[in-house]
Amino acid sequence: MKDKFPYVVLNVATTADGKTDTFARRGAAISSPRDLDRVDGLRASCDAIMVGGNTLLGDDPRLTVKSATLRAERRARGQSENPIKVGVVTQADLRLDSRFLAAGPARLMIFTTARTGAEQIARLRDLGVEVFVMGEQRIDLASMMICLKPSGIGRLLLEGGGTLNLELLRQGLVDEINVYVAPLIFGGASAPTWADGVGLTRDDAIPLHLVTVENLDDDGVLLRYLVSPHN
Ligand SMILES: NC(=O)c1ccc[n+]([C@@H]2O[C@H](COP(=O)([O-])OP(=O)(O)OC[C@H]3O[C@@H](n4cnc5c(N)ncnc54)[C@H](OP(=O)(O)O)[C@@H]3O)[C@@H](O)[C@H]2O)c1
Repeated sequence: MKDKFPYVVLNVATTADGKTDTFARRGAAISSPRDLDRVDGLRASCDAIMVGGNTLLGDDPRLTVKSATLRAERRARGQSENPIKVGVVTQADLRLDSRFLAAGPARLMIFTTARTGAEQIARLRDLGVEVFVMGEQRIDLASMMICLKPSGIGRLLLEGGGTLNLELLRQGLVDEINVYVAPLIFGGASAPTWADGVGLTRDDAIPLHLVTVENLDDDGVLLRYLVSPHN
């Protein structure tokens, strides 16, 4: 079954108190310049980059490879300049001039539900976006992953947010986790963490295997985990 799914690397930047944004939820910067370079390299090594609906609509990330050298290396390997961008969004009300759609060049895929109107789907398709309607209220994530593999996505970078992260982890669809822990505290009970949603009971907690720990000269720490099979 596992070979039907892409290898999924979850990457996240968090504060020392486990937050991925402030309570204002405006996409606060957390990574150091060095960590941004690492993430750029990670993006360049993947076939696609995925984000969840709130991150897509709220942060409007570009999800492109910043380094011209890394883009040229991808082209030299016969790959597209940028990985495929994948949005997972219940109601795909993206602005047509959003950075997700405009920054590129990149192939674009949106997985959505019947809650996205037919006119908006037509507008997105006119822009060349591959739109998949997969579910009435929530996207069926396992079906989505099965759909990604034949689209040439063997290695997928998951870039949050916490709701999508936990849902994919809960369904056993994440293989590896990279966590950059910045020397910052945001606090706030309502500030997001990198595994949100409803949460798990202790019995359902997801076991991890710590592979490497890197102490960085920016006072940050990079943790790399493999997700242990749990079901
Ligand atoms: N520091 C970092 O590395 C980092 C990275 C990314 C994001 N962030 C931050 O994280 C916050 C956003 O995270 P978030 O947890 O609110 O949202 P999210 O994970 O980006 O998006 C979750 C939304 O996707 C939709 N969805 C549809 N089907 C789903 C399914 N099967 N499973 C899960 N989600 C599904 C739902 O939309 P509906 O509710 O409309 O149904 C859900 O609320 C922002 O503040 C952003 O800045 C930080």
